[in-house]
Amino acid sequence: MAEVNVRVQVEGPFATVMVDRPKSLNALDSRTLQELEKAAAGLAGREDLRGVIVTGAGEKAFVAGADIAEMMEMDADRARHFGALGQRVMDVIAALPVPVVAAVNGFALGGGCELALACDFIYASENARFGLPEVSLGVVPGFGGTQRLTRLVGRARAKELIFTGDVIDAAKAKEIGLVLEVVPLPQLLGQARSALERIGKKGPLAIRRAKEAIDRGADLELADGLTIERKVFADLFDSADRREGMKAFLEKRPPVFTGR
Ligand code: CAA
Repeated sequence: MAEVNVRVQVEGPFATVMVDRPKSLNALDSRTLQELEKAAAGLAGREDLRGVIVTGAGEKAFVAGADIAEMMEMDADRARHFGALGQRVMDVIAALPVPVVAAVNGFALGGGCELALACDFIYASENARFGLPEVSLGVVPGFGGTQRLTRLVGRARAKELIFTGDVIDAAKAKEIGLVLEVVPLPQLLGQARSALERIGKKGPLAIRRAKEAIDRGADLELADGLTIERKVFADLFDSADRREGMKAFLEKRPPVFTGR
């Protein structure tokens, strides 16, 4: 399947995944979801990769939601498959072994907000707008929104947003902890890139294992999460990167990590 709605650009150790379907404000139809899944699966196996930016094409929308025209014709059975596809895509993105930053450049509504929530953290441009307005259409978020938003901002905020369908601006999204930083649109990709470059200077194995420890532990009892952390901490002591990082510190020079 040739990509027409999703563009992947790899520059050195970083990849940018851009949803580019302007006629529908980058809305996610089945084809676009399949392209996103393929793009993420392709990136998952790249050992040289250090980080990913997910963004939308243009200056108006990140992703304006799942495609309403396509959903209009669905019965419950088709909707079950569509929801499963959307959840799977978000899971594949969330499970990427390297940091994934959402650079939200406009409307991130419904499935668009859910795509941003599948990333490790979200930076937004000043014109960004967030919401889960599915109840306006008589449905509920179906690509993970009821679960990931709740885990990120808490039950009451998630309920307020999902019950009202309110669309909030970037400043409000930052206030409730959905977004980490808000910058003018021309600076958005630079902001995301700068974070990945800072991360890219650190031990690549340590970053991957830190992500694993945080994500695997987040929904567990503290004691079980600490068990995961203990294992990850100890495992890394067998790595060349650990020896190099500590040796470089003691020799007062910058480390040269190899990812092994
Ligand atoms: N699906 C399909 N087409 C969409 C779309 C969507 N989610 N969002 C926008 N479009 C289309 C519009 O139909 C319009 O197409 P035409 O030019 O052919 O009429 C084009 O994109 C431009 O949109 P508007 O004219 O509406 O632009 P606007 O500036 O007036 O409004 C907007 C922008 C507020 C984002 C508005 O487009 C909108 O409300 N979009 C729908 C948002 C939404 O409800 N998203 C949730 C979808 S449900 C979902 O995502 C379920 C899930 O969890 C899986």
